[in-house]
Amino acid sequence: MYICICNGITEEMLETAAKQSHSEREILNRLGVGNSCGICVIDAIEKLNQKNLAKQNNNEKKS
Ligand code: FES
Repeated sequence: MYICICNGITEEMLETAAKQSHSEREILNRLGVGNSCGICVIDAIEKLNQKNLAKQNNNEKKS
């Protein structure tokens, strides 16, 4: 299933990148998710959170 249509990024690619990255931002930047129309960013983050793929040691503070 495609996560980012503009860049042809699939859910599998997101999962693979998540294994090699430390934060949501790093995962998205690594793949280029959201660097065109940007409509996919929210869904990509939700997918990472649903599958608990992003590691917790990122520098972003969430409130
Ligand atoms: S769908 Fe991802 S940048 Fe457009």
